[in-house]
Amino acid sequence: MPYQYLNVETKGPVGVIALDRPDALNALCTPLIKELEAALAAFDADDAVGAVVLTGGERAFAAGADIKEMAGKTYADCVRENFITDGWEAASHLRKPLIAAVAGYALGGGCELAMMADFIIAAETAKFGQPEITIGVIPGAGGTQRLARAVGKAKAMDMVLTGRTIDAHEAERIGLAARVVPADALLDEALAAAARIAGMGRLAALAAKAAVNAAFETTLAEGLRFERQSFHALFSTADQKEGMAAFAEKRKPAFTGR
Ligand code: CAA
Repeated sequence: MPYQYLNVETKGPVGVIALDRPDALNALCTPLIKELEAALAAFDADDAVGAVVLTGGERAFAAGADIKEMAGKTYADCVRENFITDGWEAASHLRKPLIAAVAGYALGGGCELAMMADFIIAAETAKFGQPEITIGVIPGAGGTQRLARAVGKAKAMDMVLTGRTIDAHEAERIGLAARVVPADALLDEALAAAARIAGMGRLAALAAKAAVNAAFETTLAEGLRFERQSFHALFSTADQKEGMAAFAEKRKPAFTGR
Protein backbone atom coordinates (compact mmCIF):
# COMPACT_ATOMS: atom_id res chain seq x y z
CA MET A 1 0.00 0.00 0.00
CA PRO A 2 1.42 3.44 -0.88
CA TYR A 3 1.78 5.80 2.07
CA GLN A 4 1.85 9.60 2.00
CA TYR A 5 3.31 10.19 5.47
CA LEU A 6 5.32 7.03 6.09
CA ASN A 7 8.20 5.10 4.59
CA VAL A 8 7.58 1.43 5.19
CA GLU A 9 9.94 -1.42 4.39
CA THR A 10 11.11 -4.76 5.69
CA LYS A 11 14.74 -5.50 6.45
CA GLY A 12 14.99 -9.27 6.79
CA PRO A 13 12.65 -10.25 9.64
CA VAL A 14 12.22 -6.64 10.82
CA GLY A 15 9.43 -4.28 9.76
CA VAL A 16 10.55 -0.66 9.62
CA ILE A 17 8.17 2.29 9.71
CA ALA A 18 9.62 5.79 9.35
CA LEU A 19 7.32 8.75 9.98
CA ASP A 20 7.82 11.04 7.00
CA ARG A 21 6.22 14.45 7.29
CA PRO A 22 9.40 16.50 7.62
CA ASP A 23 7.87 19.91 6.82
CA ALA A 24 5.83 19.67 10.02
CA LEU A 25 8.47 17.85 12.10
CA ASN A 26 6.36 14.70 11.73
CA ALA A 27 3.40 16.27 13.53
CA LEU A 28 0.90 13.48 13.95
CA CYS A 29 -2.08 14.55 11.85
CA THR A 30 -5.08 12.23 11.51
CA PRO A 31 -4.17 10.85 8.05
CA LEU A 32 -0.67 10.00 9.33
CA ILE A 33 -2.13 8.19 12.33
CA LYS A 34 -4.48 6.22 10.06
CA GLU A 35 -1.54 5.20 7.88
CA LEU A 36 0.46 4.21 10.94
CA GLU A 37 -2.41 2.06 12.17
CA ALA A 38 -2.56 0.30 8.79
CA ALA A 39 1.20 -0.24 8.58
CA LEU A 40 1.39 -1.65 12.11
CA ALA A 41 -1.55 -3.99 11.47
CA ALA A 42 0.09 -5.24 8.27
CA PHE A 43 3.34 -6.07 10.11
CA ASP A 44 1.45 -7.71 12.99
CA ALA A 45 -0.25 -9.99 10.45
CA ASP A 46 2.91 -10.78 8.47
CA ASP A 47 4.48 -14.08 9.57
CA ALA A 48 7.80 -13.07 8.02
CA VAL A 49 8.10 -10.15 10.46
CA GLY A 50 9.30 -10.85 14.00
CA ALA A 51 9.76 -7.32 15.34
CA VAL A 52 9.08 -3.75 14.26
CA VAL A 53 11.13 -0.55 14.42
CA LEU A 54 9.30 2.78 14.47
CA THR A 55 11.43 5.81 13.71
CA GLY A 56 11.24 9.37 12.40
CA GLY A 57 13.74 11.68 10.81
CA GLU A 58 16.96 13.38 11.91
CA ARG A 59 15.27 16.55 13.24
CA ALA A 60 12.21 14.93 14.71
CA PHE A 61 10.77 11.61 15.69
CA ALA A 62 7.51 13.56 16.01
CA ALA A 63 6.82 17.04 17.44
CA GLY A 64 3.43 16.00 18.74
CA ALA A 65 -0.17 15.89 17.64
CA ASP A 66 -0.91 18.36 14.85
CA ILE A 67 -1.63 21.60 16.72
CA LYS A 68 -2.97 23.33 13.62
CA GLU A 69 -5.41 20.49 12.99
CA MET A 70 -6.76 20.45 16.53
CA ALA A 71 -6.68 24.17 17.36
CA GLY A 72 -10.31 24.78 16.34
CA LYS A 73 -11.84 21.69 17.88
CA THR A 74 -14.53 22.02 20.54
CA TYR A 75 -15.08 19.70 23.48
CA ALA A 76 -18.04 18.22 21.59
CA ASP A 77 -15.86 17.58 18.52
CA CYS A 78 -13.28 15.77 20.67
CA VAL A 79 -15.89 13.58 22.34
CA ARG A 80 -17.78 12.82 19.11
CA GLU A 81 -14.60 11.91 17.22
CA ASN A 82 -13.07 10.11 20.22
CA PHE A 83 -10.07 12.31 19.47
CA ILE A 84 -6.60 10.83 20.14
CA THR A 85 -8.08 7.37 20.53
CA ASP A 86 -8.91 5.73 17.21
CA GLY A 87 -5.68 4.77 15.51
CA TRP A 88 -3.49 6.37 18.17
CA GLU A 89 -3.62 3.26 20.31
CA ALA A 90 -2.51 0.94 17.51
CA ALA A 91 1.14 1.05 18.57
CA SER A 92 0.28 0.04 22.11
CA HIS A 93 -1.81 -2.88 20.85
CA LEU A 94 0.86 -4.38 18.57
CA ARG A 95 1.47 -7.96 19.67
CA LYS A 96 4.97 -8.14 18.20
CA PRO A 97 7.90 -6.38 19.87
CA LEU A 98 8.14 -2.72 18.86
CA ILE A 99 11.24 -0.55 19.24
CA ALA A 100 11.08 3.24 18.92
CA ALA A 101 14.27 4.68 17.43
CA VAL A 102 14.18 8.36 18.36
CA ALA A 103 16.31 11.19 16.99
CA GLY A 104 15.49 14.87 17.45
CA TYR A 105 12.19 16.01 18.93
CA ALA A 106 9.82 13.52 20.58
CA LEU A 107 7.36 15.97 22.06
CA GLY A 108 3.78 15.64 23.23
CA GLY A 109 2.13 12.94 21.16
CA GLY A 110 5.59 12.12 19.76
CA CYS A 111 6.90 11.26 23.21
CA GLU A 112 3.68 9.40 23.92
CA LEU A 113 3.97 7.39 20.70
CA ALA A 114 7.57 6.49 21.55
CA MET A 115 6.43 5.36 25.00
CA MET A 116 3.87 3.02 23.40
CA ALA A 117 6.82 1.06 22.00
CA ASP A 118 8.31 -1.70 24.13
CA PHE A 119 11.50 0.27 24.51
CA ILE A 120 13.14 3.39 23.19
CA ILE A 121 16.59 3.65 21.68
CA ALA A 122 17.55 7.32 21.64
CA ALA A 123 20.08 9.11 19.47
CA GLU A 124 22.25 11.62 21.33
CA THR A 125 20.21 14.30 19.54
CA ALA A 126 16.89 13.12 20.99
CA LYS A 127 14.78 15.56 23.02
CA PHE A 128 11.79 14.31 24.96
CA GLY A 129 9.02 16.39 26.48
CA GLN A 130 5.34 16.75 27.28
CA PRO A 131 4.83 20.43 26.48
CA GLU A 132 1.03 20.30 26.17
CA ILE A 133 0.60 22.53 29.23
CA THR A 134 2.35 25.33 27.34
CA ILE A 135 -0.51 25.32 24.81
CA GLY A 136 -3.32 25.11 27.34
CA VAL A 137 -3.98 21.38 27.52
CA ILE A 138 -2.45 18.21 29.02
CA PRO A 139 -1.05 15.06 27.39
CA GLY A 140 -3.85 13.13 25.72
CA ALA A 141 -2.19 10.00 24.35
CA GLY A 142 -1.06 8.41 27.58
CA GLY A 143 1.66 10.88 28.60
CA THR A 144 0.58 11.31 32.20
CA GLN A 145 0.15 7.56 32.66
CA ARG A 146 3.02 5.95 30.75
CA LEU A 147 5.54 8.62 31.73
CA ALA A 148 4.66 8.28 35.42
CA ARG A 149 5.00 4.51 35.19
CA ALA A 150 8.30 4.79 33.31
CA VAL A 151 10.06 7.46 35.34
CA GLY A 152 8.10 7.86 38.59
CA LYS A 153 6.07 10.75 39.99
CA ALA A 154 8.80 13.36 40.52
CA LYS A 155 10.15 13.39 36.98
CA ALA A 156 6.73 12.92 35.38
CA MET A 157 5.30 15.85 37.34
CA ASP A 158 8.36 17.95 36.49
CA MET A 159 7.99 17.27 32.77
CA VAL A 160 4.19 17.45 32.57
CA LEU A 161 3.79 20.56 34.76
CA THR A 162 6.72 22.61 33.44
CA GLY A 163 6.61 21.29 29.88
CA ARG A 164 10.41 21.22 29.90
CA THR A 165 12.32 19.16 27.39
CA ILE A 166 14.94 16.64 28.49
CA ASP A 167 17.89 15.38 26.49
CA ALA A 168 18.73 11.79 25.59
CA HIS A 169 21.13 11.24 28.48
CA GLU A 170 18.60 12.45 31.05
CA ALA A 171 15.98 10.26 29.36
CA GLU A 172 18.23 7.22 29.74
CA ARG A 173 19.16 8.12 33.33
CA ILE A 174 15.53 8.31 34.41
CA GLY A 175 14.48 5.15 32.59
CA LEU A 176 12.56 6.66 29.68
CA ALA A 177 15.09 5.51 27.07
CA ALA A 178 16.70 2.07 27.22
CA ARG A 179 19.89 3.11 25.42
CA VAL A 180 21.56 6.21 23.99
CA VAL A 181 23.62 5.83 20.83
CA PRO A 182 25.39 8.19 18.42
CA ALA A 183 22.91 9.68 15.95
CA ASP A 184 24.54 8.06 12.94
CA ALA A 185 24.28 4.62 14.59
CA LEU A 186 20.63 4.93 15.64
CA LEU A 187 18.94 2.93 12.91
CA ASP A 188 21.63 0.24 12.83
CA GLU A 189 21.37 -0.23 16.61
CA ALA A 190 17.58 -0.42 16.47
CA LEU A 191 17.64 -2.81 13.51
CA ALA A 192 20.21 -5.02 15.21
CA ALA A 193 18.14 -5.15 18.41
CA ALA A 194 14.97 -5.90 16.45
CA ALA A 195 16.68 -8.58 14.35
CA ARG A 196 18.03 -10.19 17.52
CA ILE A 197 14.51 -10.27 18.98
CA ALA A 198 13.06 -11.58 15.70
CA GLY A 199 15.63 -14.41 15.82
CA MET A 200 14.31 -15.68 19.17
CA GLY A 201 11.43 -18.10 19.50
CA ARG A 202 8.54 -15.97 18.30
CA LEU A 203 6.05 -17.35 20.81
CA ALA A 204 8.49 -16.67 23.63
CA ALA A 205 8.94 -13.09 22.42
CA LEU A 206 5.16 -12.51 22.37
CA ALA A 207 4.85 -14.05 25.82
CA ALA A 208 7.75 -12.03 27.22
CA LYS A 209 6.24 -8.78 25.97
CA ALA A 210 2.80 -9.61 27.32
CA ALA A 211 4.23 -10.62 30.70
CA VAL A 212 6.28 -7.44 31.18
CA ASN A 213 3.27 -5.36 30.14
CA ALA A 214 1.18 -7.19 32.75
CA ALA A 215 3.48 -5.70 35.39
CA PHE A 216 2.00 -2.28 34.58
CA GLU A 217 -1.61 -3.33 34.49
CA THR A 218 -2.22 -5.64 37.41
CA THR A 219 -1.26 -6.57 40.96
CA LEU A 220 2.01 -8.36 41.73
CA ALA A 221 0.17 -11.57 42.62
CA GLU A 222 -1.84 -11.53 39.38
CA GLY A 223 1.23 -10.63 37.36
CA LEU A 224 3.23 -13.47 38.87
CA ARG A 225 0.40 -15.91 38.12
CA PHE A 226 0.24 -14.66 34.54
CA GLU A 227 4.00 -14.99 34.14
CA ARG A 228 4.03 -18.52 35.60
CA GLN A 229 1.20 -19.68 33.31
CA SER A 230 2.95 -18.25 30.26
CA PHE A 231 6.24 -19.83 31.34
CA HIS A 232 4.59 -23.22 31.78
CA ALA A 233 2.74 -22.89 28.46
CA LEU A 234 5.98 -22.33 26.56
CA PHE A 235 6.98 -25.92 27.43
CA SER A 236 4.35 -26.98 24.90
CA THR A 237 6.25 -25.31 22.05
CA ALA A 238 8.72 -26.81 19.60
CA ASP A 239 10.96 -23.77 20.20
CA GLN A 240 11.39 -24.69 23.87
CA LYS A 241 12.50 -28.21 22.91
CA GLU A 242 14.80 -26.83 20.22
CA GLY A 243 16.25 -24.05 22.39
CA MET A 244 17.12 -26.34 25.27
CA ALA A 245 18.41 -29.13 23.01
CA ALA A 246 20.61 -26.63 21.17
CA PHE A 247 22.05 -25.43 24.48
CA ALA A 248 22.95 -28.98 25.51
CA GLU A 249 24.39 -29.74 22.06
CA LYS A 250 26.41 -26.48 22.05
CA ARG A 251 24.88 -25.23 18.80
CA LYS A 252 22.71 -22.31 17.73
CA PRO A 253 18.98 -23.02 17.98
CA ALA A 254 16.90 -23.13 14.80
CA PHE A 255 13.62 -21.71 16.02
CA THR A 256 10.49 -22.22 13.93
CA GLY A 257 7.99 -20.12 15.83
CA ARG A 258 5.97 -23.21 16.68
N1 CAA B 1 1.76 20.54 15.04
C1 CAA B 1 1.71 21.15 13.86
N2 CAA B 1 2.78 21.68 13.25
C2 CAA B 1 3.96 21.59 13.88
C3 CAA B 1 4.09 20.96 15.13
C4 CAA B 1 2.93 20.40 15.72
N3 CAA B 1 2.96 19.74 16.88
N4 CAA B 1 5.39 21.05 15.51
C5 CAA B 1 6.04 21.68 14.54
N5 CAA B 1 5.19 22.03 13.54
C6 CAA B 1 5.48 22.75 12.32
C7 CAA B 1 5.67 24.23 12.56
O1 CAA B 1 4.42 24.88 12.62
C8 CAA B 1 6.49 24.61 11.36
O2 CAA B 1 5.64 24.70 10.23
P1 CAA B 1 5.72 26.01 9.27
O3 CAA B 1 7.09 25.96 8.71
O4 CAA B 1 4.64 25.75 8.28
O5 CAA B 1 5.52 27.19 10.14
C9 CAA B 1 7.38 23.40 11.14
O6 CAA B 1 6.75 22.32 11.81
C10 CAA B 1 8.76 23.56 11.77
O7 CAA B 1 8.60 23.91 13.11
P2 CAA B 1 9.28 25.19 13.78
O8 CAA B 1 9.48 26.28 12.77
O9 CAA B 1 8.50 25.55 15.00
O10 CAA B 1 10.70 24.58 14.16
P3 CAA B 1 11.67 25.03 15.35
O11 CAA B 1 12.94 24.30 15.13
O12 CAA B 1 11.71 26.51 15.49
O13 CAA B 1 10.97 24.48 16.68
C11 CAA B 1 9.83 22.81 18.01
C12 CAA B 1 10.82 23.09 16.86
C13 CAA B 1 10.45 23.29 19.34
C14 CAA B 1 9.61 21.31 18.06
C15 CAA B 1 8.51 23.56 17.75
O14 CAA B 1 8.06 23.27 16.44
C16 CAA B 1 7.40 23.20 18.69
O15 CAA B 1 7.38 23.66 19.84
N6 CAA B 1 6.42 22.37 18.23
C17 CAA B 1 5.25 22.02 19.00
C18 CAA B 1 5.58 21.05 20.12
C19 CAA B 1 4.34 20.74 20.93
O16 CAA B 1 3.78 21.59 21.60
N7 CAA B 1 3.89 19.47 20.88
C20 CAA B 1 2.72 19.03 21.60
C21 CAA B 1 1.52 19.06 20.71
S1 CAA B 1 0.01 18.72 21.56
C22 CAA B 1 -0.07 17.04 21.69
O17 CAA B 1 0.79 16.33 21.24
C23 CAA B 1 -1.31 16.50 22.38
C24 CAA B 1 -1.21 15.08 22.77
O18 CAA B 1 -0.87 14.76 23.88
C25 CAA B 1 -1.54 14.01 21.83
